[in-house]
Amino acid sequence: MADDFTDLSYHVGTYGKNTLWVCDSNTSKMVRPLPTPNVVLEAGESSKSFTCLEKIISTAIESNLGRDCTFIALGGGMVCDITAFAASIYMRGCKVILIPTTFMAMADASLGGKTSINFRFAKDIVGSFFPANEVLICTDSLRSLSNKDYMNGFATVLKHSLLTKDDTLFNILAAQKQKVMDRDQETLKAIITISLQVKKSYVDNDPYERLGIRSALTVGSTFAHALESMSRLQWSSGQAEAWGICKSVEASRELGLCTPDFCAGVLKLFAFYGYDTSYKIQRGDWMDYKNQLCKDKKSVNGVVNFVLLKDQGEYEIRPLDDEVIKKLVMYPSV
Ligand code: GLY
Repeated sequence: MADDFTDLSYHVGTYGKNTLWVCDSNTSKMVRPLPTPNVVLEAGESSKSFTCLEKIISTAIESNLGRDCTFIALGGGMVCDITAFAASIYMRGCKVILIPTTFMAMADASLGGKTSINFRFAKDIVGSFFPANEVLICTDSLRSLSNKDYMNGFATVLKHSLLTKDDTLFNILAAQKQKVMDRDQETLKAIITISLQVKKSYVDNDPYERLGIRSALTVGSTFAHALESMSRLQWSSGQAEAWGICKSVEASRELGLCTPDFCAGVLKLFAFYGYDTSYKIQRGDWMDYKNQLCKDKKSVNGVVNFVLLKDQGEYEIRPLDDEVIKKLVMYPSV
């Protein structure tokens, strides 16, 4: 990891002219002057679109970039996902370097080659697997995030702490809240490093998510993406992810797959960090929610599968009855 952002600017400055920089309206201010050619996207999830993809590809064409060019993404999950997707299709694939600036992008999106854009309010519905040639992580950039954006990505670190039997990460998160909230650099480096090691252990064994191993990393996302999509992306990814992980663990408890104590411990950890673990959708929104669930990428023959945690580092993937889902996500009838 680069120690500070100055080092990082120097490092990426050595990539020469055959590059296309992609930033958002916040991260474009992090490297001055911003090298050309570049594309600056409006910050926010709504930029993960075909329109912005076209803008990146058009700029590459107008700048006469060949197949040997490199796209450099400087930003959070949105910038990294769309830039890597653009790189995967530009001239059938050019190089891509990711410089993640948010927690979500550092601890998750940067590793494992998932690229995507959203379409018709469905999150990450269009994309490819295209691992980055290089990932440069500078935890210093986390200092510039608003509290909302910081916590948005931190949910991923909490998730990764549940996906390993080694409880080092879980214990750091449970014991070092103040350091995490103060954005202490050593603590951040430690938790991001472990978080990426956890993710790597799944990705290495199932890079294309075909063996039911990598899918474990999406625990909570089936519940979460449906909520995000139903709310027309008004829920942030991380807040929805935290809620979705809690619903997955509650579903495990309902089915007797995990102990009530394990479930209570997970809910307590997320609540400890201020996430909304108990949100319920209105009864009238059920059909909309259910329709969004059906678009999940883990569906097989129209059956939606959920990743359910049985214990730390242990999971099962299976469908859930509507009645169980309703009980967890929806207000009960009066
Ligand atoms: N974020 C889950 C994965 O990369 O597989």
